[in-house]
Amino acid sequence: MSKHPSDSELIAAAREAAGRAYAPYSKFRVGAAVKMAEDETVFSGCNIENASYGGTVCAERTAIFAAVATGLRKIETLALTVLDAPEDAELKDRSPCGICRQVIREFADDDLTRILIDRGNDSWDLLTIEELLPHGFRL
Ligand code: THU
Repeated sequence: MSKHPSDSELIAAAREAAGRAYAPYSKFRVGAAVKMAEDETVFSGCNIENASYGGTVCAERTAIFAAVATGLRKIETLALTVLDAPEDAELKDRSPCGICRQVIREFADDDLTRILIDRGNDSWDLLTIEELLPHGFRL
């Protein structure tokens, strides 16, 4: 990963992470890569399932929690890929779940944060946090 990772490199990192998904139950491999605003560090994550299904953690949260655990707090860019989505999958079939949207909200900045959702063949949808989670809950 270069010092100032590009969007394309983040998508590639998300795809690589999805290859490490532990998804024996759903066989639905997801990967995420998050670039943090403080220092452009990139953390990647994959979904990790559990025989007790509720113990499953999504790729987005695996990546974000790894970053936050090192003391970083602000997401600049989050790239997401669903490796097992068909090429022509609609955006809703490649998008974060509701819990992950709320977790992204927690560490997002309204004006800064960008969410990239892989379409395959080096293209992606680009969303703001308000587009991803309108009226997201805040305390
Ligand atoms: N999954 C994610 O990793 N991220 C999401 O935003 C949606 C769902 C995972 C969880 C589970 O391992 C599999 O996809 C099927 O729900």
